[in-house]
Parts: sequence; C-alpha cells; structure tokens
Amino acid sequence: MKGPVVTGRRRLIAGNWKMHLDRAGARSLAEAVTAGVAAATEATEIALFPSHPLLSEVVAVCAGTRVAVGGQDLHPAEQGAYTGEVSGAQLADVGCRYVLCGHSERRRDHGEDDQLVAQKMLAAERVGLIPVVCVGESLERRQAGRAAEVLENQLDALLAVGAPASLVLAYEPVWAIGTGEVATPDIAEEAHSLLRSRFADRLGAARAEALRILYGGSAKPDNVAALAGRQGVDGFLVGGASLDAASFLAIIAGSAPGA
Ligand code: PGA
Repeated sequence: MKGPVVTGRRRLIAGNWKMHLDRAGARSLAEAVTAGVAAATEATEIALFPSHPLLSEVVAVCAGTRVAVGGQDLHPAEQGAYTGEVSGAQLADVGCRYVLCGHSERRRDHGEDDQLVAQKMLAAERVGLIPVVCVGESLERRQAGRAAEVLENQLDALLAVGAPASLVLAYEPVWAIGTGEVATPDIAEEAHSLLRSRFADRLGAARAEALRILYGGSAKPDNVAALAGRQGVDGFLVGGASLDAASFLAIIAGSAPGA
C-alpha cells in the first residue's frame, strides 16, 4: 500500500472533543494521549480541543509534552458584553495554541456565516492563536453538483479579509461528520486540491504550498492511511474517534509519514 505523502508541511492530527467529558475524563484521556505519543515521531503535530471549562485541566496535563491544546470557538471581539462567549485572548491566556473557527456544527446551530467565520479567524490571529477554519459542503449541495461552489465561496470569504500565514484549513464535508460515512480518498483529494489551487490563485504558489489542509468527517483508524496517502491531505480533524485514546493514537500512527 502506498504510504502517506511526504511534503514540507507538518502534519497535524487534531482531536475535537466537542461537548463531551468532565474534568476527570478529560484529564485521563489527555494523560493517555500524551503518554501514547511520547515515543512517536516529531514529524506530526498533535492538538486536543476540549470544551472551554476543561481547557485548564487539559493544558496542565499537556504542559511540557508535544501535545498542544485548542479552543473549539471564539468570539470575534477582543472583550465586551457578550454573555456566554469566549475571546481569543482568554483562550491564549489559558494556554491554547489553536482554535477552531466555523465548525459546521457552529454554522448549523448558531447561524455562523462565512463573514463571521472570517472575523473569528482574524481575531484568532490577532492574539497569536492558530486558526483551524472548517469548510465543507452539505449532502444536498454535493448531490446537486455544487460542492465546489460551496468550498470556493467559503474560502473566498477568508481570502477577502486576508488569510493569516498560520491558517490551517479543515475540509469537513457535512455529510461525513459523525455519520460513519467517510469521504472517499478521491473526493478528499479533489476537494483539497481545489482549495489549494484557489488559494494559490489569490495568494501565490508559495503560500499555497505551505497551507495545511486537514480532512475531517468520520476519520477512523481503519480509513486514515488511505486518505493520508493522497496528495494534499495534511492531517485530520477527528471527532468521535478522538474520544478513545487507543483509536486516536492509532489514527496518529496510521497517518504518520513513513507509517
Ligand atoms: P467525526 O467529527 O470524526 O465524529 O465525524 C469530525 C468533526 O466534527 O470535526
């Protein structure tokens, strides 16, 4: 079988824990992940995205290890009267390195549009967080032959405000999230290459070559190697399978260069 493609981009495997776990559960999962990756190759970056009340706990476990921590969302404003919201500065202060922006569950449940997501990306950059911006088409749009148009529109909104150098994109087809129905390697490769070439058209080949694009949506230990073997797939944003240390570690191992 063909191994993962080796590129100059550092692979990133991110675990999106969504609204799961309590402090004790988060601590033990983070401990198992940090222990499990201690011996793993430096070629891959690993990040965990717990919900906000669990961040300090997870940051404490990950301190001094090679596992980074990120928030699942942020508000575009620096501070203010925004009840229930979290700022980028607060995430950075608690020890986050990354933040998710525009996850499809936020777009769906909170009406986040492309412009708001772009503002969140900029707010992350302002405080030195690495934004992981999620894009992806619904099943309805894919079946209507409009997947490319959706991705282009979502990406254009980011490019319109100026994508930061640290930007990470996550291609997450909505129909694959939490459904067990993973995108085929062909679909993932096609989407990643569309995103990268549009990025290149607007920001130049060098920026596009450095852009990391993750795949997300039912990534599991038994399907990541085939996806990681495709051109332009620079890692994974993992939901369900990141809640089990053994399967998350298997995903990390299965997508490492030379695996
Ligand atoms: P899933 O979620 O791996 O459970 O499909 C991915 C995501 O929502 O980021």
